[in-house]
Amino acid sequence: MGTLTNKSNVTNFNINRLSPDLQRQLTEVYQSEQLDSALEINRIYHGDARKLLSKIQPNSIALSIWSPPYFVGKEYEADLSFEDWQNLLSTVIARHFPIIKPGGFLVINIADILVFKDPAIPRIQAEVVSNKRSPVTRDDVLRAMAEHPDCNRYQIAKLLGCSEQTVDRRLNGNNIRGGKYEAQTRVKIVGGLIEEWGLNAGFYLYDRRVWTKDAAWENSRWHSLSYKSVDEFEYLYVFWKPGVTKVDRNRLTKKEWREWGSRGVWHIPSVRANDNHEAKFPLELPRRFIQLLTEAGDIALDCFMGSGTTAIAAIQQRRNFIGIELLEKYIKLAQSNVQKAMAEGQQLALPLNED
Ligand SMILES: C[S@@+](CC[C@H](N)C(=O)[O-])C[C@H]1O[C@@H](n2cnc3c(N)ncnc32)[C@H](O)[C@@H]1O
Repeated sequence: MGTLTNKSNVTNFNINRLSPDLQRQLTEVYQSEQLDSALEINRIYHGDARKLLSKIQPNSIALSIWSPPYFVGKEYEADLSFEDWQNLLSTVIARHFPIIKPGGFLVINIADILVFKDPAIPRIQAEVVSNKRSPVTRDDVLRAMAEHPDCNRYQIAKLLGCSEQTVDRRLNGNNIRGGKYEAQTRVKIVGGLIEEWGLNAGFYLYDRRVWTKDAAWENSRWHSLSYKSVDEFEYLYVFWKPGVTKVDRNRLTKKEWREWGSRGVWHIPSVRANDNHEAKFPLELPRRFIQLLTEAGDIALDCFMGSGTTAIAAIQQRRNFIGIELLEKYIKLAQSNVQKAMAEGQQLALPLNED
């Protein structure tokens, strides 16, 4: 066997020096049938990633980078059971293997599930020691209600000089809006699942980094009721498809290598204004990976495109992109963001898909 050229001409190299096993494995990886009609570059497609990924030209994507639903109850995942969510992610990862270039990468940005419901957790209640406990008793509340039958909870609270939540707790004997009697939850680590799905698909976990963002105090009810920390970091799992990978240290300046290229922990503030999409990642995240792992003219894919952040990063760095997004309202948002990025003096003048 001499020079191996795949049918889409993505690369050619001499594999004679490799072991027979590896030669066989790589031959299979490189020689996939080309699609007659595949998704086009520099377009954002409307649909389910699981269906549309198989319409992408095999061995064509230098880097796929995305942040999926995290199973934390956002609008776009509200209907998913944990099984559905696992099925979504494992299928999407598996569908990537044929389309990533040999030697190319799949980067997944995800976080652990911090409030994972588990009814099997023993219902042992912690005693929350607080010097702010209201002296108002259940009897006080019942007496006030009997004396003022027309008052609602808020008015009773005002009469008693306590919060409405205290009235509620005294009446119901629990804290119905969270706290120590809330449905039992625990932390669910997702890294092991992601690794397993990546390996099953044929990828190898090449690297992992941590993104530290702003501490989410507001989302962390539990931090004042338990010993748990607030939510302030996420993971970046970098999978590699076997093949020849060009390692070009000149893609980054010395300063960039020092500051983030070689660093396992990236400090990047979260997106402050999640006004038009509830879970954007910062532009800097795909920007860094695109700069590190691709070259001008390569294709970067995001199959959970959301507001179009990955496409904008690709445009800014003279890469091509393909986007997939389920919700129509985000397609429109992403398309408008992409058009703005193109108009801001970028080189890609290709039309966007009107689907
Ligand atoms: C965490 S957000 C990604 C946000 C994006 N990185 C950004 O910066 O705007 C996940 C996105 O995946 C979309 N989504 C959910 N399920 C999908 C599916 N099956 N196929 C394609 N997109 C999906 C959601 O509508 C949401 O916009």
